[in-house]
Amino acid sequence: MEKHHVEVMLSEEVVDARIREMGEQISRDYAGKSVHLICILKGSVYFTCELAKRITVPVTMDFMQCSSYGAATKSSGVVKLAKDLDEPITDREVIIIEDIIDSGRTLNHLKDLLAQRRPASLKLCTLLDKPDRRVVDVDVEYVGFQIEDKFVVGYGLDYDQQYRNLPCIGVVEFD
Ligand code: IMP
Ligand code: MG
Repeated sequence: MEKHHVEVMLSEEVVDARIREMGEQISRDYAGKSVHLICILKGSVYFTCELAKRITVPVTMDFMQCSSYGAATKSSGVVKLAKDLDEPITDREVIIIEDIIDSGRTLNHLKDLLAQRRPASLKLCTLLDKPDRRVVDVDVEYVGFQIEDKFVVGYGLDYDQQYRNLPCIGVVEFD
């Protein structure tokens, strides 16, 4: 790993408050229905759990793993499916939960893949969005924060598998 340090970008309080708002919004949008959250491993585990706790309509969850990043901080551009869902999503109200949308390749690929399984509805939700980095156009219904083009860690996001457990969002500064 290159020599670096981490600085706080979004504090734990700020992130928690925004997730609470997102949970309230989803609860309103799905009033009278239930939602099936699809957590994209590993990065969105923390966000999915915190968000699910703030949703007041019935929630079920499933997990999927897919990656477009190698070990470092540059995207390879290739999306691999490492673990598929355990259950079918046909006729369910599905929300895909991501940690961050960068090039847009991962979410675009997942949306196409899951749409083929005929859910009742399919929406996208991400904690962070780096709009300046977009390569593939993708509509995301729920966005926590739009951030600058910086490499961030914490709240599930990693730098070489480290820092996922930071309770805030930090920026990696290379010294
Ligand atoms: P995309 O396919 O380029 O949109 O990349 C999305 C994935 O790249 C995310 O799920 C993250 O795993 C990873 N990623 C993108 N930007 C960052 C970052 O700033 N920190 C950590 N991981 C990132
Ligand atoms: Mg990820």
